[in-house]
Amino acid sequence: MSLIYKGQNLFIDNTSIKSIAKNNITPFYVYSYKKIRNNFQTFSNFFKRVEPLICFSVKSNSNISLISELGKLGSGADVVSEGELLKALKAKIKPNKIVFSGVGKTENELKLAVKKRLLLINIESESEAKLIDKISKKINRVTPIGIRINPGVDANTHSKISTGRVDSKFGLPISNFLRFCKSAKKFKNIKIKGISVHIGSQITSVEPYRKTLNILYKIIKSSKINFEYVDLGGGFGIPYQNKEKKIDIGNYSKLVKKFQKKIDCKIIFEPGRFIVGNAGTLISKVIFIKKNGKKYFVIIDAGMNDFMRPALYNARHNIIPVLKSKKKIGGKVEFVGPICESTDTFLKYGNFSFLDENDLIAITNVGAYGSTLSSNYNTKPLASEIVVKNGKVKIVRKRQKISEII
Ligand code: LLP
Repeated sequence: MSLIYKGQNLFIDNTSIKSIAKNNITPFYVYSYKKIRNNFQTFSNFFKRVEPLICFSVKSNSNISLISELGKLGSGADVVSEGELLKALKAKIKPNKIVFSGVGKTENELKLAVKKRLLLINIESESEAKLIDKISKKINRVTPIGIRINPGVDANTHSKISTGRVDSKFGLPISNFLRFCKSAKKFKNIKIKGISVHIGSQITSVEPYRKTLNILYKIIKSSKINFEYVDLGGGFGIPYQNKEKKIDIGNYSKLVKKFQKKIDCKIIFEPGRFIVGNAGTLISKVIFIKKNGKKYFVIIDAGMNDFMRPALYNARHNIIPVLKSKKKIGGKVEFVGPICESTDTFLKYGNFSFLDENDLIAITNVGAYGSTLSSNYNTKPLASEIVVKNGKVKIVRKRQKISEII
């Protein structure tokens, strides 16, 4: 845990949240660099024998400082837009460690990707392959591509973050994939180097991954193509609540090793949440507390604009006080944001440590899809992002100025 109490006070690693809040306007995101590094190393260690290229999925947290730190640890990047690609490059990730995913890359985005000579552009339709061929031909280049397939596997996760089912928009269905492999010779300016798959996010069981590996093995054999790279995507779930189960990555790594022995390929992973999810916290201040009926509403200054997961997926992120009290509020409590939407609500508790107006609270495990999903809804500025690294507090994204959005 990067968050611990020393006495009554909440600390991130060895730095008190209170001290960070002294110099920063709430709400703000704060990340533990140590946690990110540990998560990255844990992930690498699980797959040591596979020697994969780990391409951090930038959509989960696109802070350039964090991408750069991960780059120093050996990470590549999985990007899905021109903006993410430019951020990864600015963070000094080498183009030959970048994969470009996404179902709707524009011509301009593809031009940039071709020009930068990325490791793989993972195509998701035959039209996309055709366009990359055309762009590459114009500058007399052969561009390496991967083909994202849709394995038709249900990842058993939240339906809004499931991507591998037959009826989803992602990738090529198996029959189209096989047809494409046969016809791809006509494209002289692309080279098929990879096959990729990503079945969903917050996956907590190995079973859907096992099914996917079996399907991949079969279709790779039928395609008669020697894929240099097999990109197995991301999706590794993390526990958000105490009782939630952890995915058995050790077991999965054994399956991947077996697969690799049969196929003889380099493996790519695109983890996002696993690397940064539990390394980030959103610190917010209580604006008002009011009692409506029997319930206390604790109205905080972070809203769904700052942190969207509860509103979008009913995600449950625990809230803890920055200063613990022995007293309790003494009734049901609902934490809500300031946004004019009834879905702008966080967790409900039967009771909670006593809080007063102006006190600070921490929303936990928000390092992945926290700041990246935030918006200017209600014309609110984007929150700042702060990293704690070796006891030093560094602002890695300044709070947006209101003047920038008016
Ligand atoms: N690769 C591809 C092609 C992806 O689409 C994604 C996530 C990843 C890798 C990284 O997945 P991860 O390891 O982080 O699960 N906003 C949602 C999650 C959406 C995931 C989209 N794709 C959430 O807050 O739960």
